[in-house]
Amino acid sequence: MKRTVYLLLLVAFLGYVQVLRAQEEDVVQVTDVQTTDVPDVVVIISHLCHFEKPLQDPTDLDDDQYCDCDVRNSDAGMPEILINCRKHHLVDGFWEGMEVLPQGTTRLDLSHNALTLVPRLSGGQLRYLNLGHNQITTIPDKVFGNVSQLEELDLSINRIEMLSTDALAGLPNLKRIDLSGNFITKIEVNAFSNALQLRHLILSNNSLGTFFNRTEADLYLRLGVTNRLEVLEMQRCNLTDINLSSGVGLERALLGHNRLEQLTKLPKQLSYLDISGTPIRSFPAKFLPHLLHLESLILQDMPILYTLEAYALYGLPRLSTLNLQGSRNLSSIHPHVFGQNVIRNETDTELKRLILKGTNIRTLNSTLQFAFENLRLLDIRGAPLRCDCQLRWLRDLSNLMTLGVCMKPNALRNQRFGTIESHQFQCRAEQFWIYTVFNVLLAILLIVLISIGIFLIVRAIKPKPHVQLRTIGATSPYARVTIEPNRAEVL
Ligand SMILES: *[C@@H]1O[C@H](CO)[C@@H](O)[C@H](O)[C@H]1NC(C)=O
Ligand SMILES: *[C@@H]1O[C@H](CO)[C@@H](O)[C@H](O)[C@H]1NC(C)=O
Ligand SMILES: *[C@@H]1O[C@H](CO)[C@@H](O)[C@H](O)[C@H]1NC(C)=O
Ligand SMILES: *[C@@H]1O[C@H](CO)[C@@H](O)[C@H](O)[C@H]1NC(C)=O
Ligand SMILES: *[C@@H]1O[C@H](CO)[C@@H](O)[C@H](O)[C@H]1NC(C)=O
Ligand SMILES: *[C@@H]1O[C@H](CO)[C@@H](O)[C@H](O)[C@H]1NC(C)=O
Ligand SMILES: *[C@@H]1O[C@H](CO)[C@@H](O)[C@H](O)[C@H]1NC(C)=O
Ligand SMILES: *[C@@H]1O[C@H](CO)[C@@H](O)[C@H](O)[C@H]1NC(C)=O
Repeated sequence: MKRTVYLLLLVAFLGYVQVLRAQEEDVVQVTDVQTTDVPDVVVIISHLCHFEKPLQDPTDLDDDQYCDCDVRNSDAGMPEILINCRKHHLVDGFWEGMEVLPQGTTRLDLSHNALTLVPRLSGGQLRYLNLGHNQITTIPDKVFGNVSQLEELDLSINRIEMLSTDALAGLPNLKRIDLSGNFITKIEVNAFSNALQLRHLILSNNSLGTFFNRTEADLYLRLGVTNRLEVLEMQRCNLTDINLSSGVGLERALLGHNRLEQLTKLPKQLSYLDISGTPIRSFPAKFLPHLLHLESLILQDMPILYTLEAYALYGLPRLSTLNLQGSRNLSSIHPHVFGQNVIRNETDTELKRLILKGTNIRTLNSTLQFAFENLRLLDIRGAPLRCDCQLRWLRDLSNLMTLGVCMKPNALRNQRFGTIESHQFQCRAEQFWIYTVFNVLLAILLIVLISIGIFLIVRAIKPKPHVQLRTIGATSPYARVTIEPNRAEVL
């Protein structure tokens, strides 16, 4: 009964602010209810909202004493109230005890204020609460107990140092929590165990490296997170180790910019993995085994990754995006990085986007063309490409858009890869062969010419021979002498 009165009141209020175009007599009727039933009106006139003011007033300033309160019809047809107190210079003194939110409030944004304490709120329909960008230091036990329908809670960029077991108690419907950018170094056991619906956990930018140490690296065990968790963000947490092997439901893991040097076994359902900026030197064979669902692998800005070894990306049949952007030390990709099966056409690769922008890759072995069969985009901008005959295969691949400019040879310097004709991809060896033939021919021609010249000169200089032929008489000393063999010693 009371509920219907409330509803009526809300409709009345909506009529009052002329959101609903009710018929005139209806408005009069409900306005009467409003004026006669004073105590219940308090529910609507809120500390946060100034409902007398016309909605969407263009003169409404962010720093007036009231928040921006918006009324609209929800998908279910019920009126709902969205309250935006972002950047309203709210301090702890603003709250007087428990703040009862207007009936029907589903979203409350208190971000970018100067709160150091979590306000004690009460609102049975609140689903989204943003307390980000404040100076909150602690989350008292069960502080969200009277907003138990919360599905999304944002506590990012605060000064929280510790999360106690009961801090999030009484939030059975919580689906997403953002705790990034705090100073959390310790999380008590089972801090998340009541959040049975938790799907998205963000812990990035907290120094949790000593918390998740070698011996106690199991995230699920230590936090009590349900294994239905789908998205985990733990970037820049100074982690050296993390064990996610219990995460049977985990689909996206963002673990970039940690000090991870290797990864322990990852859950099978994973489809998106980001380990950018980690000091991994090389990926050994079958580095990511059995990730049959992995679609995106993000390896940006890897500082000391030099090479992708043979079989490093073997056994990832769904991999469609591989991003190595900014991994400046990466200079070689093994021809068998996807394994030999690809080449033997035993497994297909799904690779569609390969980002090598800003790496040190000069060339790609033509053996890779088998793995590139489905590739649509190759971004190799900023890499010192050597556009010679060894890269011609890449130019000849159909359906592939290649972005990048050539560094070498000099003739093709700064030309866009896609604008160069296939036959222009030449090797010095090929050019050398042509030149050799040409030079040999030239040399032979020269030798012939010189010979002819010398012959002519010699002929011109040589004096004419004056040979006189005389007949030799019998008494002449030049006449034939016959030496007898037995008288030879006497002579
Ligand atoms: C929740 O509401 C109950 C009853 O109004 C009150 O006793 C309790 O202190 C409230 N809890 C919080 C955390 O505000
Ligand atoms: C973490 O910190 C870095 C730099 O300190 C910042 O660029 C990034 O946006 C932060 N990320 C989150 C999720 O807070
Ligand atoms: C790991 O961390 C836990 C608590 O965070 C601590 O009790 C344990 O001693 C640490 N182990 C090592 C090897 O640092
Ligand atoms: C990261 O952890 C190491 C020890 O494990 C510590 O010396 C270092 O200060 C931590 N860095 C940050 C930013 O917390
Ligand atoms: C990871 O955690 C699981 C479950 O706790 C455990 O069985 C496994 O040995 C751990 N792996 C490593 C490498 O610590
Ligand atoms: C490449 O590696 C060297 C040392 O191995 C390191 O000094 C340098 O910072 C790395 N380059 C980048 C861009 O990280
Ligand atoms: C691999 O097999 C597919 C059909 O299964 C065929 O269309 C394709 O041409 C083959 N590729 C090579 C390189 O043999
Ligand atoms: C490409 O890789 C194959 C297989 O490893 C190798 O035989 C060939 O020499 C490589 N080609 C070049 C130009 O390096």
